[in-house]
Amino acid sequence: MADWVAACAADDIEEEDVIRFDHEGRSFAIYRSEDSDYYATDGFCTHERVHLADGLVMGAVIECPKHNGRFDYTSGKAKKTPACVDLRTYPVKVEAGTVYIQVD
Ligand code: FES
Repeated sequence: MADWVAACAADDIEEEDVIRFDHEGRSFAIYRSEDSDYYATDGFCTHERVHLADGLVMGAVIECPKHNGRFDYTSGKAKKTPACVDLRTYPVKVEAGTVYIQVD
């Protein structure tokens, strides 16, 4: 059964930025696009265990801080090597200024 979990306040993330969210031994990356839409993916790069919240958001892309692999954070698709395995994404909703992600 998937649960909605409060991850952060909507204002905790700047536009076109990302923060880390840890929950019950798992780690996620929560993104805010330049249009203030919110997205969530697994926190760690699929290439090596580096957290994507330390990376750079450019439009709909997150660039990994270690080897500059890129993912589309809206779909999880790997976009640039050496990242070639897609990221898992999670449903997100914003209610009353709080960002929730749906985790299973
Ligand atoms: S650790 Fe992310 S591209 Fe290598």
